[in-house]
Amino acid sequence: MPSETPHVASSALTPYHVATLSERPDLLNLHQETGGSAWPEFMLHDPVAVANWGKMMSYFAGDQLSLLVGDKIAAVVNMVPLKVDADFGKLPDTGVDWGVEKSVSDHEAGIRPNALMGLQVVVAKEFRGKKFSGIATREVIAHARRHKLEFVVLPVRPNEKHLYPLIPMADYIHWKNPEGLPFDSWLRVHKRLGGDMISICHKSMIIPGTVGEWGDWTGQSFPGSGRYIVPFALNPIDIDLERDRGLYVEPNVWVVHHVAV
Ligand SMILES: CC(C)(COP(=O)(O)OP(=O)(O)OC[C@H]1O[C@@H](n2cnc3c(N)ncnc32)[C@H](O)[C@@H]1OP(=O)(O)O)[C@@H](O)C(=O)NCCC(=O)NCCS
Repeated sequence: MPSETPHVASSALTPYHVATLSERPDLLNLHQETGGSAWPEFMLHDPVAVANWGKMMSYFAGDQLSLLVGDKIAAVVNMVPLKVDADFGKLPDTGVDWGVEKSVSDHEAGIRPNALMGLQVVVAKEFRGKKFSGIATREVIAHARRHKLEFVVLPVRPNEKHLYPLIPMADYIHWKNPEGLPFDSWLRVHKRLGGDMISICHKSMIIPGTVGEWGDWTGQSFPGSGRYIVPFALNPIDIDLERDRGLYVEPNVWVVHHVAV
């Protein structure tokens, strides 16, 4: 559905407009570069996401948003439609990987979606700190409403958790700031917009690699087997030299927004 209506980012007073990749296929490369540039290399090697990315961009081009300020991309939003059980307690432990596969298989089986799953919101570096994360999240909810989808479900990656890799997610998500809101800024954005924190999806992304690949992805040496802290990973990674294997299991947090359709 066209959404090339001008919007005003009121809190930032930065006028922007929204274009989907169906409306602006010419933006595909810049859109993907902006999205990918926010992540450490290892996050780009989740086999499930890699195997399905092309299909998602093709099947769901109309659900990939670029927030444009002039001709610059200020933020990108990637999301996929899927059918979820309204008993959110059943949202699986396998978060992102589950949603990626389900969106593709639902589409191929002709199953009507009732939800949008958010995969990522990335604010381009030069536009950070201007409240675009909340603006982008509002656009996700508005997009769901336009498409008559009742729920927005997100396996949220709390964006400061990487600074506390030894703290269990179950403790971290309950940390509060002095105002009594979530300590984590990304969880705070969702809370302010009415999102409900449902559960932790402990195995949201599973990223295996050889020890050599982990060395290439991180620039670190892994001289012995054991658990290692790696910058920007939310938990330590496991290295097994005998099996020549490194494994990162990323935990996320299911957050649900109910959409008034
Ligand atoms: C997370 C991200 C989307 C935030 O976007 P942003 O536009 O810079 O943030 P905003 O200006 O909207 O601020 C949102 C909140 O985060 C806080 N914040 C922003 N950057 C922060 C930082 N580096 N450290 C701590 N808090 C931060 C702000 O203070 C604000 O909280 P408040 O309103 O309670 O004061 C952006 O940093 C980003 O794209 N990061 C990389 C990708 C990512 O982690 N995406 C989220 C998971 S998919």
